[in-house]
Order: sequence, then C-alpha cells, then structure tokens
Amino acid sequence: MGSSLAHCVCLWFLLVSITNAKSHVRNVFNVMSYGAVADGKTDNSKAIFDAWTHACQSVGGGMVLIPKGTYLVNPVVLKGTCKGQMVFFLQGDLKAPTDQKSWDDIDHWITFQYVDNFVMSGGGSLDGQGASAWPYNTCNKDSHCKKLPVSLRLDFVNNAWISYIKLINSKNFHMNIFACNNIKLEHMHIMAPGDSPNTDGIHIALSTGIKVWDSIISTGDDCLSFGPGMKDVDIWKVQCGPGHGISIGSLGSSPNEKDVQGFIVRNSRFIGTQNGVRIKTWALPHASNVYNITFRRIIMQNVANPIVIDQEYCPSGKCNPQGSSQIQIRDVKFMNIWGTSSSKVAVNLDCSKGKPCQQIVLKDIYLAYKGKDGPAISQCSNVNGVSYGKLQPPSCIQKSQSN
Ligand SMILES: *[C@@H]1O[C@H](CO)[C@@H](O)[C@H](O)[C@H]1NC(C)=O
Repeated sequence: MGSSLAHCVCLWFLLVSITNAKSHVRNVFNVMSYGAVADGKTDNSKAIFDAWTHACQSVGGGMVLIPKGTYLVNPVVLKGTCKGQMVFFLQGDLKAPTDQKSWDDIDHWITFQYVDNFVMSGGGSLDGQGASAWPYNTCNKDSHCKKLPVSLRLDFVNNAWISYIKLINSKNFHMNIFACNNIKLEHMHIMAPGDSPNTDGIHIALSTGIKVWDSIISTGDDCLSFGPGMKDVDIWKVQCGPGHGISIGSLGSSPNEKDVQGFIVRNSRFIGTQNGVRIKTWALPHASNVYNITFRRIIMQNVANPIVIDQEYCPSGKCNPQGSSQIQIRDVKFMNIWGTSSSKVAVNLDCSKGKPCQQIVLKDIYLAYKGKDGPAISQCSNVNGVSYGKLQPPSCIQKSQSN
C-alpha cells in the first residue's frame, strides 16, 4: 500500500517533469484520439502507429500516451528519426496476440528503431502471452526453428531512459537491445515461469553505455545476456531468479566479432538460478577479447554454478573437439561474492588451452555448499591470476607466472 502510493507519486512527478521538460507545453498524442479501443480484443497497432507517427513528426517531439486499460496490439515497428524528444507513456497494459497467424515467424512485437532522445515509462506492462507459443518452441532441438517475437526491441536507439515498465511472459526474449548507445533501464520488472523456453530477460549486443539499475528479473533463461561489441556496462541492484543468471556471451560463434570490455555488475542478487555470473565462449577459432570486467558485492542464494568461465561451450557438438576458443579473456575480477551454492563446484574457471585467461582476480569469496559429498570446491584450468582476502572454497588460482 505504502509502496504503491510512493510509486504513484513518483510516476506523477515523472509525468509532470517530463511534460514540463521544455518551456512550452509538450504535444501529447493520446492513442484514444487515434481510435484505440481498450477492450483487450481489438487490435490497436494502427492507433499506436498513427499516434507515434504524428508525435514523431511534430516539431520538438511529442508524447504518445496510452491510458490505463487493456489493449491487444499486433506486432508494430515505431521508427524515427523524430523532430525532438519522444516519450512513450504507457499506463495501460498491452497484450500480444495469441492466434499464431499474427506472430508466425515474426521476430518482434513492439519495436523502436532509429530514435534519439527517448523516454519510456508509466507503470504499464507488455504481456507477451507466451503460453500460447512456448509449447511450439523447437529452438532447443532445431537451429532453423521458426522465429518467435521478442516483446520489446530497441534497434539503433540513442539516449534513452526506460523505467517503471513490466514485461510479462514473452514468447521469446523479453527485451533485445541492438546497436544502441547510452540506454538507462531502471525499475524494470520482468517475469515469466522458470521453465518457459528462451524467455531471456534482456539481451544486449553491439551497444555502449548501458545501465540496468534496480530491477527484478525472473525468467526461464538468462536474466541478462550480452553479445559481442559491448562496452561500458553498469549493472546495479538487479535481482535475478529463477533463470540462468547474468552471462557475457556466448561469444565466438562467428568471425570478426567486436571485443567486450568495461563491465561492472555490482550489488546484485541471484536467487535459485542455474548460474550466477558467467562468461562463455564457443570452442571455435574466431578471435576477439573480453577485458576489464568486474563482478562485486553479489549475493548468491542457492545458485547451481555461482561463478563460471566456460570457454568450452559447444552445445549440440558443432565444434571441433580438438579446437579451443581463440577469445582472450583478461582482467576479470570476482570480489565480495557470498552466499550458497547448490552444487559442489561453486567456482568453475574453465579457460581456453589456446588462450589461457590472464589477470583473473578472486577476492573475498564465501560460497557454502551443504551436500553429503563434502564442502564446496573451486576448479580452474588454464587460468592465470591472483587471489586474496578470505576465500571459501579455497582458490584454485596459483599465483600467476605471467602478468
Ligand atoms: C573499465 O571499465 C569501467 C566500467 O565501464 C570504466 O569505468 C573504466 O574506465 C575501465 N577501465 C579502463 C582501464 O579502461
């Protein structure tokens, strides 16, 4: 009650401050004026598209307002470039279609492209109605499976602030960010069942200046995952679980991938996830670098694999068993990570034979395992680095010969 009141007051201030951001009154484009019907049955993609198009074309930008109510929306792409700041103020709840012909082999639901200076907020939700698609997901068995819609896509978006949005039960990833710069996500709430297929929270690639702050992500796959070409990422106060944890990679599945660098994951919590913090690369001959990565002040509650580097990633045997990853991982710090592991190997650093990890730091790790097969252990292969502080399980890193 108190928190929902605080939430309302906060959103009200947000609305007022956004509305007054410029000295003149912002143009508001209410979807109801474009024929939207909040009955949960009528498709509103055209009303949203038309409101967006008018807002985008108006000098100084505009606000698309979706008032409280339930709106069925078929897949829609909202494009720039626009003539000023664009605000998508979602107070209502959007529902994706469940009839297969509306999403068959389509990879998106709500997409924003080529927008600079973008705000999305309002306390509303995007419900992907994924239960209608999950039983037909064959992507674990078939790499040529039909496309499934990602609930919210940002492509080539710069300078965006997205806050107070719920993403529920996506058919595929909840959110995908591609080729974007300076994106801040705050107070996001993402939820899908722990056994729903490929329902990653947020997947991000080829982007710089990404912040994910103060958010809760419970899904059937990765909480946050990062592809190649990521730089300058700050994850703060994120709670993950259920799901597969935070993952850099898989990297190295194709040639000429850009490096991944400058990550901080801090003050975050994992509850009952399959992995905690992880870096994974395919055992394929494509070279790139991963460096300047810090994981610190992280709580693990009953996590199966709390700390993982996996450079032997090779699902469905698509790699040469003699080959090794050519991705150089260096300068990765795991600091102040504590809690419980639900498996014996709490720390598993499995680096490439061809490109051993360099400058790996383990500092102040306490991970308990309560199994009959003895206390938690750490395992290293091809790891150079240092460990210091209190370490339970004892570190597997020998003091480095090099670096
Ligand atoms: C490492 O990454 C952090 C976070 O993005 C950044 O602030 C820092 O400047 C980077 N350090 C170097 C040496 O590039």
